[in-house]
Amino acid sequence: MGKLDGKVVVVTGSVSAIPGFDSIGSATVREVLAEGARGVVVSDINDNLGEAFVKELNAKYGVGRATFVHTDVSQPKDVEKLFEITEQTYGVVDAIMANAGVVTAEDFDKDPEEVLKSRRFIQSINEDGVFYTALYGSRLMIKHGTKGSIVMVSSIHGVAGRPKVVNQETGEILIDRFNLVQYTMGKHGVVGLSKALALQLADYGIRVNTVNPGYIMTPLFQAAVAADKNDLAEQDSLTTEAFDFAQLAALHPLSNDPVKDKEIVPRGKFGGRMGVPAEIAKPAVFLMSDEASFVTGQKLVIDGGYTAG
Ligand SMILES: NC(=O)c1ccc[n+]([C@@H]2O[C@H](COP(=O)([O-])OP(=O)(O)OC[C@H]3O[C@@H](n4cnc5c(N)ncnc54)[C@H](O)[C@@H]3O)[C@@H](O)[C@H]2O)c1
Repeated sequence: MGKLDGKVVVVTGSVSAIPGFDSIGSATVREVLAEGARGVVVSDINDNLGEAFVKELNAKYGVGRATFVHTDVSQPKDVEKLFEITEQTYGVVDAIMANAGVVTAEDFDKDPEEVLKSRRFIQSINEDGVFYTALYGSRLMIKHGTKGSIVMVSSIHGVAGRPKVVNQETGEILIDRFNLVQYTMGKHGVVGLSKALALQLADYGIRVNTVNPGYIMTPLFQAAVAADKNDLAEQDSLTTEAFDFAQLAALHPLSNDPVKDKEIVPRGKFGGRMGVPAEIAKPAVFLMSDEASFVTGQKLVIDGGYTAG
């Protein structure tokens, strides 16, 4: 018996930009079907990859188990349509993962135009997008009396900002700036929204929680691994500093080894590693499932010990 037998699940931002590797969203979609969901809606701005992903899933699990819906979560009309199509296709929605998100890096005390540009961008997806998803998704649950579960993807930066990163061998400061100011604000906002909605929707039996990942090896990070570091340095020195993977890995002290052959997982020289998408997908599915029937308004930090110190 699967944890999600018979349920219908919507996951936003759920394709993977690099075939053969998972994002957090695509890994969650796979886990949702493996745990017996009768339907999953894959929702993303990338239509080609979305259609291809759904084709792959339906070939494995049976026609109609997965459906792709183009959705830009920063557009409320798109999100409204996402849940209309979900209702037309599967009748109800039992669980939602508000996962779509982006990262920007900006120096808060440098060019104000750049700071404001990234403010609007981050807010429209990481904050407004999660809000619209919860708004229209919970309405569909309420309409059908579904005692569902909403899982929002926050971050360790929904719990804390990022301090300087120091080279453990030389003491050199590797990441001084790049403090993810906008990202940290938005991901804290998601935690706040989940708590407020957990209380607001409790009467309907709808649970609302967050998962808060540490640094996970997704296409976003893999693209940077593949890139020539010198080229990156010419474009943006902050970006280069940010992708010093061995140092980022070392921030997560846990050194166990669940990793499958195809996955690239940066490791810290003195221990620690980054996480893999399945390590977020499985706890997210737990929160969606009836096993978490008394869990609401909580944040589940999944970070190999990053924030434990
Ligand atoms: N990877 C990490 O280390 C990490 C850590 C903490 C939190 N997160 C969060 O996890 C979530 C997923 O991140 P990921 O690393 O898998 O990223 P990713 O870039 O691999 O995947 C994100 C997906 O979202 C889609 N997307 C982007 N803008 C969108 C929009 N406006 N509407 C709909 N879809 C859109 C992209 O097309 C992509 O398929 C994000 O919210 C991110 O902030 C990631």
